[in-house]
Amino acid sequence: MENVVLICVLMTLLHLLWQVFFRKNKRDSHERAKLPPGSMGWPYIGETLQLYSQDPNVFFATKQRRYGDIFKTHILGCPCVMLASPEAARFVLVTQSHLFKPTYPKSKEKFIGPSALFFHQGDYHFRMRKLVQGPLSPDAIRNLVTDIEVLAVSALESWVGNKVINTFQEMKKISFEVGILAIFGRLESHYRKELKKNYSILEKGYNSFPTKIPGTPYKKALSARKRLSEILSTIIRERKEKRSIEKDLLGCLLNAKDDKGEVLTEGQIADNIIGVLFAAQDTTASVMTWILKYLHDDPKLLEAVKAEQKAIYMSNEEAHHPLTWTQTRNMPITYKVVLESLRMASIISFTFREAVTDVEYKGYLIPKGWKVMPLFRNIHHNPDFFSNPQKFDPSRFETAPKPYTFMPFGSGVHSCPGYDLAKLEMLIMTHHLVTKFSWEVVGSQSGIQYGPFPIPLQGLPARFWRESTS
Ligand code: HEM
Repeated sequence: MENVVLICVLMTLLHLLWQVFFRKNKRDSHERAKLPPGSMGWPYIGETLQLYSQDPNVFFATKQRRYGDIFKTHILGCPCVMLASPEAARFVLVTQSHLFKPTYPKSKEKFIGPSALFFHQGDYHFRMRKLVQGPLSPDAIRNLVTDIEVLAVSALESWVGNKVINTFQEMKKISFEVGILAIFGRLESHYRKELKKNYSILEKGYNSFPTKIPGTPYKKALSARKRLSEILSTIIRERKEKRSIEKDLLGCLLNAKDDKGEVLTEGQIADNIIGVLFAAQDTTASVMTWILKYLHDDPKLLEAVKAEQKAIYMSNEEAHHPLTWTQTRNMPITYKVVLESLRMASIISFTFREAVTDVEYKGYLIPKGWKVMPLFRNIHHNPDFFSNPQKFDPSRFETAPKPYTFMPFGSGVHSCPGYDLAKLEMLIMTHHLVTKFSWEVVGSQSGIQYGPFPIPLQGLPARFWRESTS
């Protein structure tokens, strides 16, 4: 008995000594570590004006040239460390992701809903992510091919005529409908219309000035968010009454039970549905708009894509048979165009995390509470990883990029669960676009607009017409 007590006392002493030693060493190493190079700009506003008064990519690239792959700055009221190397992105997003939590502006959390998975870390995030991943996996979305085709064809048909289309706005309609399809399956059209109407009011509030004044985008967005919850409640009630077990996202969320047999609340379900719509719509629409532009600007490449797609079109007896999942997985030229568009456009130029403790990386200190931003676009446009990075060249994807140099869908615990669906949508859209339609971009201005994702200027105004089949 005495021996046991002695061993316990010794173990406790050892533990205490180890803790004191370890903590001291940790503190010492943090004391030794210095902040990364960089400039913090003016008090409070920091370098926000410099960032927003120029192309953000020029801002980041200039800093990277001056300070290297890791540098500090101060934007939007927060001290930040920016990371422009694949190793650093891996450190923050993958290997040491527990030291960094996701962070979003408060308004996003308010409008989307605080239970949406991307605001979380740890057990709740893990659980929600598993639920969201299932209905977005290749096994589930292979059943959506025909429905996505129908959406793409009917959208393209509606663009034909002498009118000028805002390509991005039209692509948003498609990506919204595809999001609805993945979430609810075939949802009745009056619900789709109501969801669309209110979601479009909501999204105008995401970046608007917070105020209680009636009639402002912010106030309208708050009311629209309430109505969205009510619509979702009605849809959920109907589902429950039907007692049908669907495999779409709503079905998975409704049937989920945790270890204690607890189901998700309606609030948690609504926040995650709105979260998925938010994550799916502008992202996919921006990339599809860029694909149209890149193909338009490179007639030789367009011919190659057309040839690949026409072969599939002919084997389906000129679209008398629907596209198959297998066909969508065998479009090598078009697939490389999709990848190169994702790289060139890098529509998610960077992401935000926040250090939950003092972190040391490569001798630099990232203090607790500081924002950390892996700069995807700078990595995608670094000539060390992609030669002649400003050239649109899908053939570069004949060889796989080096690890962590190509992250259009992020990486690690928060990486995009919708990437297979997004790619499928882009491939189906391109198939129908190039086999049956032609288009010309209107206006000679070329440039980038941020809203907030980079899109071609004015959403790429274009005219479409049906190609003669003779
Ligand atoms: C081309 C289209 C898309 C791009 C470029 C894209 C990109 C990304 C990126 C970079 C992230 C990670 C952000 C971070 O680490 O902070 C992300 C997360 C996410 N994406 Fe996508 N995405 C696209 C389409 C979609 C679609 C179609 C869906 C769903 C139908 C979707 C659902 C999500 C969700 C739910 C998350 C949060 C995951 C988590 O926090 O665990 N995305 N996306």
